[in-house]
Amino acid sequence: LKKVQLFESLNEEQLQHILSIADKQIFSASTVLFHENDPGDTFYVLLKGSIKIFTRGSTGEEKVLSIIGAGESFGELSLLDGRPRSASAQTLEPTTVLSVHAKPFLELLRQQFDITRHIMAELCRRLRDTNQHVYDLTFLDARTRVLKNLILLANRHGQRSGSIITIRIPLNYDELAQMAGVPKQTLAQVLRDLQDRLILNVGANDYTLDLSRLNG
Ligand code: CMP
Repeated sequence: LKKVQLFESLNEEQLQHILSIADKQIFSASTVLFHENDPGDTFYVLLKGSIKIFTRGSTGEEKVLSIIGAGESFGELSLLDGRPRSASAQTLEPTTVLSVHAKPFLELLRQQFDITRHIMAELCRRLRDTNQHVYDLTFLDARTRVLKNLILLANRHGQRSGSIITIRIPLNYDELAQMAGVPKQTLAQVLRDLQDRLILNVGANDYTLDLSRLNG
């Protein structure tokens, strides 16, 4: 639990309290934890694995809004404003979460200002990310959006070794295209080009970027 940023300021007794109000759950890959518009009564902390947060258009096509990795949390909006889930959540790989029900979650926020502050900072970050994404969709061309999305994923979820960053999240081309807001063919073209220039290596379950080759 100490690795979870949300809980980093808590002492041993407070961590024990979290464990006493939380349930540990393990999900296999591609499990939907909840759908957009469901009533929401649970807050989640992701201990291991990854999930995608997404919404659907009227003809069923998906838009991936965010990827949540180990140590991060989600599902707070419905608990804070009492409205239905703002998006759907689905595991991308075998995933372990801690789940906390609305009542003990809200009680925790009342008691622990450090946790409340973390949640507020996380909401701020999401709003900033969303503003940035609106900017990208409005002002950047499709190829730039693909590269930018890869760099954002690398900075947030990648493991860095010198100029090499590896994103170990099993995202397929559809999901990457939905994140960048480009057609799948455009995504495939850009990734092929980045691979030809040795900027990107596409593995079975990971993407590796060599930032030293990016200039120009
Ligand atoms: P909630 O609305 O309860 O359920 C869906 C969750 O997805 C939401 O809480 C947030 O935790 C998360 N979420 C929704 N939209 C975004 C977004 N744009 N960026 C990151 N996370 C989001």
